[in-house]
Amino acid sequence: MKLNNLVLVLNKTKYNLDMKKYDILIIGAGIAGLYAAMNIPKEKKVLVVCKDIPWECNTFYAQGGMVTALNEADIPSHIEDTMEAGSYHNDEKAVEILSRMSLETTADILERGMEFDVDENGTLLYTREAAHSTERIIHAGGDATGRYMHYFMMVENKHKLQRNTLVYDLLIQNGQCFGVKALVNYEHKTIYADNVIIASGGIGSLYEFNTNSRTVSADIHGICVEKGIELADMEMMQFHPTVFVKTPYARKLLLTEALRGEGAHVVTEDGKRFLFDYDERGELASRDIVSRAIFDYKNKTGKEVYLDFSMFEEQWFVKRFPNITRTFEAIGYKFPQDRVPISPAFHYAVGGIKCDLDGCVEGIEGLYVIGEASSTGVHGANRLASNSLLEGVVFAKRAVNHMLTKEQIKVEIPRFDKEYKNIVHHENDKAYKKRLRQIMWAEMGVIRTKKGLIRARNEIFDMKNRDIGRLLALRLNTASAILEAALKRKESLGAHYIE
Ligand code: SIN
Repeated sequence: MKLNNLVLVLNKTKYNLDMKKYDILIIGAGIAGLYAAMNIPKEKKVLVVCKDIPWECNTFYAQGGMVTALNEADIPSHIEDTMEAGSYHNDEKAVEILSRMSLETTADILERGMEFDVDENGTLLYTREAAHSTERIIHAGGDATGRYMHYFMMVENKHKLQRNTLVYDLLIQNGQCFGVKALVNYEHKTIYADNVIIASGGIGSLYEFNTNSRTVSADIHGICVEKGIELADMEMMQFHPTVFVKTPYARKLLLTEALRGEGAHVVTEDGKRFLFDYDERGELASRDIVSRAIFDYKNKTGKEVYLDFSMFEEQWFVKRFPNITRTFEAIGYKFPQDRVPISPAFHYAVGGIKCDLDGCVEGIEGLYVIGEASSTGVHGANRLASNSLLEGVVFAKRAVNHMLTKEQIKVEIPRFDKEYKNIVHHENDKAYKKRLRQIMWAEMGVIRTKKGLIRARNEIFDMKNRDIGRLLALRLNTASAILEAALKRKESLGAHYIE
C-alpha cells in the first residue's frame, strides 16, 4: 500500500469522514429554538429536535404575554424595571440589548403575521404585570400568548422538526462540539452537526410544585456539569406567586401575573389584602417579594391565601382570560365569582448555562445556548414578568446572526464511542426522582436555610452513589449545582432568600 493511501486508511479509522451531518442542530422547540430556526436560511441543513411532542414546552404554557419596549423613549424605563426586579445583579449590557432589540424582533414577528390582541381599531393592546412601571406587554388569545406564539412559529419554521428525541450527551472533543447522542423513538442515535444550539428550557421537573411542562427536566444542564461547562447564577431559581397547586398532575396551574396587573387581589380567608404589610406596591411588587410574602403568611398562620377576581365584570373577564376561565371551570371553579387558593411554585430558572451575549458557550466552538437554558445575566437575581418570551427571540436572533457570519472552520469529526450503558431509567429511579423533587421544594424553595441546603446536598450526594440511570444522574448533577451555588451565596439577593 502506498504511503498516501495508508494515511487515508488510518485517518478513516480515527475520523468518520463520510458521516452525514447537519449544519445546525437545535435542541428544543420552544420559542427560542423555533425563532432561531425561523431566522436560518432555507438552504442550510437544519434539524430541530424536541423530547416529546413539540407543544410540550414552557412556551406553550406561557399566559401573560411578551414584553416589548413601546418605543425608543421607553427603553430606559424598561431597562430600569428589569434591573430593579433583578436586584441590579443583571448584566446591564445584556438588558440594554434585550430592550433595544425588542423593537426589531417585535416588528419582525408582527410583520411575519403573528396576531396579538388588538382593540376595535386594530391597535395593539398592552397590559401591565408586576414590577413594570407601565403597560408594555403584548398578548394573544387573551391569556394564551405562549400557545399562540408557539403555533405561529411552528407554522413559520420551514426546517425539519423531529419529535421524540431525548438528548443525553453532547459530543465534545478538544474544545469543539460535534453533535449529540440521543434516544430517537427509543433508539440510540448519534446526530452530527457543525453547530449545536441548546434551547432546551429550564429545570422545572426538579421541583415538587412547578408550573413547567413535564419535558423540562434539566438534562442538558446536567451534561454541562459533567463536561465542566460553567453554569451561572444557579441559586436564582424563581417562584411564581400565584399558582393553584392542588392538582395531582406534575404541572401545577398558573394564574398569570396579568390578573394582578389588571387588578386582581391577593387576600386572606377573611378577604384582607395583606401584601401591603410586606411591600408598599402590594400585588404589583416583583414576583420574588410577592412569593415570599404569600409563603411567609401561610407558614405563620397555617391559613390559605386566595386570588380574588370578584371585582371584575364577568363578560370582560371571560374575554380577557378565556383559557384560565375554561381550565378552572373544568375543575369546578366559576370565574370571576370564585376565588382560588394559591401558593408559590417553581416557575423559571433565572440561572443557566453560561454564555456570552451572542449565546456562545465559552471554550466550546460550535456550541450555543439561548432562552431559559442560558445565563447571559440579563435577568439578574430575579426575572421581570414576561421578559422570558422576549429573551427567547432576542437572543435566538443574536446567536443565529453570530453563527451565520462567523468563519466556518471545517474540522474532521472524531469517532465517538458507542458506549450507551446506564442510559434510561433504572428500577428505582422513579422513587428517587420523587424524593429529589420533595427535597428541592423543602430545602431549595422560596426560603432557604444553610442547614437545609447542606441536608439536601448530602442526600443528593447519597442518591448519586446509588444504582441509577443516566437521566436521573443528570438531574442530580443540576440539583447539586443549584445547591452549591446557593451555599456559596451567603446573603439574600433577589430570588435567593436565605434565613
Ligand atoms: C405569567 O403570565 O404570569 C407568567 C409570565 C412570566 O413568566 O413572565
